[in-house]
Amino acid sequence: MARKTASPEIPFVGAISRFFQHDAPPDLRRTIGQAGKDDILDPDFPYRGEMSRRDYESRAQTLQVELVKMLRDVIATGKRVVVLFEGRDAAGKGGTIEAMRENLNPRSAYIVALPTPTGREAGQWYFQRYVAQLPTAGEIALFDRSWYNRGVVERVFGFSTDAQRVQFFRQLPDFEKMLVDDGIAMVKLWLNVGRAEQLRRFLNREKDPLKQWKLSRIDVEGLGRWDDYTVAIRETLSLSHTPVAPWTVIRSDDKRRARIAAMQTVLNRIDYAGKDPAAVGTPDPQITGGPEMLV
Ligand code: ADP
Ligand code: MLT
Repeated sequence: MARKTASPEIPFVGAISRFFQHDAPPDLRRTIGQAGKDDILDPDFPYRGEMSRRDYESRAQTLQVELVKMLRDVIATGKRVVVLFEGRDAAGKGGTIEAMRENLNPRSAYIVALPTPTGREAGQWYFQRYVAQLPTAGEIALFDRSWYNRGVVERVFGFSTDAQRVQFFRQLPDFEKMLVDDGIAMVKLWLNVGRAEQLRRFLNREKDPLKQWKLSRIDVEGLGRWDDYTVAIRETLSLSHTPVAPWTVIRSDDKRRARIAAMQTVLNRIDYAGKDPAAVGTPDPQITGGPEMLV
């Protein structure tokens, strides 16, 4: 029998609700089933409800004005900026990048979202295709996923070998140090989403014709691999949180608070002419920190 959400043209639609109904742990099903639309699902999250749209929009607008100033300065002084966005599927990377980029000239502030490596790329030095996307003077590169795929999704799905991963983590600190040493300002953001919220977002994605395109085989098959991801993420953060290139972990069960904290983190880390520290403010310490923020 046809399901309401099933669509023969779009792959994976229906797989999320099937997982929800048949395979999801019962407590997860209960949490999602009983929640109101704006409720935060993670019981340990420091807020019970989402930030209001009004608060969000006024905070975001103030920060976007600062981002515009920042980009003007990046162009005027020839800075190079890299912002990495990492996190589980549906952590909110894409939306946070959009919020940050909304009022910026796309020629100077661009998104890097590389597809699966081609056969040729698979034969290269692992970092090579990412190096090709690094900014020149006056540019900000926003990486929607990055070389950290090797530590997380590639481990969980077996897309690379243990030996390749070990080599990756051996090269990584020197690689990032070289970028920073060469004058690139690098901000690494890890968006942390809880399991119930991730599943709720996937269910919404499945129902929404404007979001269905985001569903992938990785999302669907990843549903049952939450704990494998947890192990891979812990290892990755512990081996890559260095003084030269530290992580900022942002709890993103509330995507509005997460977007605000992400913008503030970037603005705090980059020097630019005309910065208004009061407008930038401090990222909410209840949701922003180092790897100890991971849940
Ligand atoms: P996204 O969440 O970025 O929309 P997916 O969920 O489809 O994309 O995939 C997650 C990540 O896994 C992507 O960065 C993708 O390139 C990577 N990936 C998928 N398949 C492979 C593969 N066979 N080898 C290496 N990486 C892969
Ligand atoms: C996100 O929401 O984190 C990304 O934009 C999409 C995804 O991870 O599937």
